[in-house]
Amino acid sequence: MKAIRVHEFGGPDVMKLEEVERPVPAADEILVKVYASSVNPADYIIREGGNEVLRSFLKLPLGLGLDAAGIVEETGSEVTGLKNGDKVYGVPNFPGDGSYAEYIAVKASQFSVMPQHIAFNEAGALPSCALIAWNGIVDLGKVQPGQRVLIHGAAGGVGNLAVQFAKAMGGYVIGTASAHNVDFLKELGADEVIDYNTQHFEELLRDIDVVFNASPVRDESVRMKSVDVLKEGGIFVCTHLDQPLTDDFLTALAQKNATGTLVGGGSVTTYTSSLSGTTRLINEGKVKAVVSKVYPLSQVADAHRDSETRHVRGKIVLEIRKED
Ligand SMILES: NC(=O)c1ccc[n+]([C@@H]2O[C@H](COP(=O)([O-])OP(=O)(O)OC[C@H]3O[C@@H](n4cnc5c(N)ncnc54)[C@H](OP(=O)(O)O)[C@@H]3O)[C@@H](O)[C@H]2O)c1
Repeated sequence: MKAIRVHEFGGPDVMKLEEVERPVPAADEILVKVYASSVNPADYIIREGGNEVLRSFLKLPLGLGLDAAGIVEETGSEVTGLKNGDKVYGVPNFPGDGSYAEYIAVKASQFSVMPQHIAFNEAGALPSCALIAWNGIVDLGKVQPGQRVLIHGAAGGVGNLAVQFAKAMGGYVIGTASAHNVDFLKELGADEVIDYNTQHFEELLRDIDVVFNASPVRDESVRMKSVDVLKEGGIFVCTHLDQPLTDDFLTALAQKNATGTLVGGGSVTTYTSSLSGTTRLINEGKVKAVVSKVYPLSQVADAHRDSETRHVRGKIVLEIRKED
């Protein structure tokens, strides 16, 4: 089968499309015939050698890809919830061989039956961003009806889902984005959009219940200004696992009786809750996958260059094979 392999860390051209052995699923795994994967910032960070959090997991040669949608081809002897022929989506094993591949063997607990009536290219855009957005907005942010929610990086892969999840939970949603994404985010359900290039959210907002930082840009000053806009007892959740919360930041939070958490990675519970929550909301018509561009696997280097601009709207999908 064909898969992307990286033999040396570096720029987009280190990704090579190679012929490799088709994996064999372990007892708790399924073999998935992959139709779609997508590009996440973690992919280009791993391709370049990782960061403080990821580096120790990376052994060359390695595969890439944290999302997959496809069809179950085989099931391990202990798998009960999924069967051959099911259309599934989920997050592949990490560390592992990645999902930029024609077949993957993955923990069944990290996969779920796809929402009804969506294409593989849409389902492949969702899992890892849904995991982070669901954990941030629902599990940790605990967004309640009427609460004011500020989402930094609202137009991105994680951010657009966070907007939709917060809206589905009944929140009043404020997102930060560039001007060209204002109408897009309002159509997605945002009540207000702040153009971070020309406006200062800390001058415009007060009494925010939950701040979710889903921007791909690490900026300590955004964190500190986010505390300023939080209400007493508010909640701050940040996707930057590689940027620990500083003492100054924690002191500022404590002065407001607010809490701050980093979100990332996954456990069986969070995979199950994020995938089932996403599936339900898509089936109810309250959430949709936002795919801005689709690249064939052979053009993965261009897909990475696109993602590295940090201005992708929604997701870039890698089409592994065409839907029948
Ligand atoms: N995807 C995952 O599985 C995952 C898992 C764990 C953690 N994370 C982390 O979550 C963060 C977001 O990931 P992602 O996949 O959503 O990234 P992404 O899709 O690459 O984010 C792109 C978006 O970021 C916005 N943006 C760029 N600069 C910004 C700024 N200064 N302020 C606010 N927004 C800005 C852009 O909006 P405009 O074009 O409108 O400016 C664009 O829509 C990353 O730090 C990532 O490491 C992601």
